[in-house]
Amino acid sequence: MKKTIALLFVCISLNSFAQDKIVLSSPKFITGDNSQYKELSFNDASWASIKPTIVWEEQGYPDYDGYAWYRFHFILPSSLKTHSYWKDTLRIAAGKVDDVDETFLNGVKIGQTGTLPTDPGGYNGKYDVLREYHISTNDKSLMWDKDNVLAIRVYDGGGGGGMFGGTPFINMMDIIDGITINTVTNNGGGKITVTNQLRQAVPGTLKIQVRDGEKDKVINSSEQKIILSPIQSITKNISFPQGKRIEVIASFTEKNTGKTKSVRNVNAYILTPLPSLTPKINGAKVAGVRPSSPFLYKIAATGQKPLQYAATGLPAGLQLNAATGVISGSLSAEGNYVIHLAVSNSLGKDERALTIKVGSLLALTPPMGWNSWNCWGLSVNAEKVKSSAQALIDKGLIDHGWAYMNIDDGWDQPARAADGTIVPNTKFPDMKGLGDWLHARGLKFGIYSSPGTTTCGGYTASYQHEMQDATSYASWGIDYLKYDWCSYGDVYKKEGDTSLAAYMKPYQVMQKALNAQPRDIHFSLCQYGMKDVWKWGAQVDGNTWRTTGDITDTWESLSSIGFSQNVQYPYAQPGHWNDPDMLIVGQVGWGDQLHNTRLTPDEQYTHISLWCMLSSPLLIGCDISNMDDFTVNLLSNDEVIALDQDVLGKQAQQKIKNSNYQVWVKELEDGSKAVGIFNLSDDYQTVSVNWQDIGLGNTEKVRDLWRQKDLGAFNNTFKTKVTPHGVILIKVMQ
Ligand code: GAL
Repeated sequence: MKKTIALLFVCISLNSFAQDKIVLSSPKFITGDNSQYKELSFNDASWASIKPTIVWEEQGYPDYDGYAWYRFHFILPSSLKTHSYWKDTLRIAAGKVDDVDETFLNGVKIGQTGTLPTDPGGYNGKYDVLREYHISTNDKSLMWDKDNVLAIRVYDGGGGGGMFGGTPFINMMDIIDGITINTVTNNGGGKITVTNQLRQAVPGTLKIQVRDGEKDKVINSSEQKIILSPIQSITKNISFPQGKRIEVIASFTEKNTGKTKSVRNVNAYILTPLPSLTPKINGAKVAGVRPSSPFLYKIAATGQKPLQYAATGLPAGLQLNAATGVISGSLSAEGNYVIHLAVSNSLGKDERALTIKVGSLLALTPPMGWNSWNCWGLSVNAEKVKSSAQALIDKGLIDHGWAYMNIDDGWDQPARAADGTIVPNTKFPDMKGLGDWLHARGLKFGIYSSPGTTTCGGYTASYQHEMQDATSYASWGIDYLKYDWCSYGDVYKKEGDTSLAAYMKPYQVMQKALNAQPRDIHFSLCQYGMKDVWKWGAQVDGNTWRTTGDITDTWESLSSIGFSQNVQYPYAQPGHWNDPDMLIVGQVGWGDQLHNTRLTPDEQYTHISLWCMLSSPLLIGCDISNMDDFTVNLLSNDEVIALDQDVLGKQAQQKIKNSNYQVWVKELEDGSKAVGIFNLSDDYQTVSVNWQDIGLGNTEKVRDLWRQKDLGAFNNTFKTKVTPHGVILIKVMQ
């Protein structure tokens, strides 16, 4: 009898959960276009299956541009309404769509974001916007308690295509939507703020649980009935032991509907000890420059300021500024120049060799720096570049090798000058002045354009002005160009040539223009991996090439991009690097409104570990002037960064992959190996790695790189516990 009651309870609670939200995870899919595809009665049985969370290029449709359709079948239970306090509006959340969608419910159009080539004004993609459409529950097109079809017509104008950025769902707009929970934690405590954004009082229950996930132990838990007055916040302080990874789960259950909003937070736990006060030289041990091009290298070094910098063996043509540590000048003869660097302060001295290779290759190690896109989007301006640059210096990131300051899309005027010269817009009143300002501080300067007529953001781009633009860039002191396919898709379509040569062509045109300049400009290809760019990027002098569509600050995006880079392994080498896109730590936002990255601290450790293992460009994508201590710490671990900057230049290889974890191994110049043990599951995992399974010897000495701590020698196996979505990153040597 008791059993029956328990079973009944489980059924009811599962059922009621299911009735609050319809998850749309398995659509049918077809490329091409036909207006019949929107109809409820259309038979799509022969269509393919696809995931609506990853662009179609990564699911068997490489290089496909143009129209395609997704169809989701679902029953719309009227219990959705009965379980709601508000009964008037249904929400349809479809994630993001690369680039334009027209969304239909049972044949009736309910929304569109972006404009199609056939629309007035023509094509305008909106790949980075979450689609959320609302529909009245009285709408005649809704089939309550019957089969419904949500049909999404997608137009992809080039690059990545299709649905991505979150699993689509349908639910009712309800009173719980007016409640937000914000959890801020740090090392030892935090605040939970519950806000009622509605003009009515909302009663409910607030539950807070503080857990030590590693020990699977609840440290503290509380439950309190509260009434949130209209437009009111309630804040609760919590405290917990310092120096530990702590999980905080805060949930508010609204009284009228029993609907709950929950937030799970992991505190920003810091793993890496602060740099020592005695001097230590960091950063790349090798730098490439072309004969007679300006050379600029800031010696990256930590230690109590002021530091004195010295360099012996500097060839004629180069000078060191002993106060700033910036080496500049130029060398006309090809060859390898080994310089001996020394950095000292009142507490001690560190010394190290730097090899300058004068020849044809740039980017002998992956570029490290900042790019404006993931934070400021099209709202970038000169002040924002400067404030992040100043913070990069003030927060000490420059002392770990971070150097490039790259402006992404949004910097130029719609019209060129009468002679065709590109003109910066009013947000960048003095490009050369900005370049000089950065160079004077030992930083490098990057810019962005497209081989098409316009950039992805609709700004003027380089089509048929490549040489003029490259010349302007050089005159401003540009060191790095990100060259983004965008509207070149139109040119390519008009020419009607689908061969590999047609994909290489725009990059070859700019390659020539860059090579004609009297300075080195790092060439960053951005065309999202089309035609396996990693196989030919080096032929067009690409120093880096994007291997995927755009990243965003979610685990789904990070993990689907990061863990799919094994195929590109053979193509990373000094001078030429795979680029899985920019970093998504710190405050990001792609526009004026910034938010803290939605990645958990564990996911952020995974992000930086994996990108360093992959020898990826490391381009910070956040507002550095607002960077918190956790993020500074995350980006200042020299032993982790050293994996990325290793002169051997070999990308890590995936050695073990199962549904819970993956093990990647990277060969290093000193004969040792870096091993990343990544937990892709939602729970703690205890992982035993057998050295032989990953190509290592019987006994290996292990160092934990995030904690910068030797763990001792291990025979045959290494056993460790890994946090959910987290990593253990070790260096092993015999
Ligand atoms: C995208 C590119 C992004 C960013 C954006 C600017 O195509 O992948 O990284 O540059 O364009 O509009």
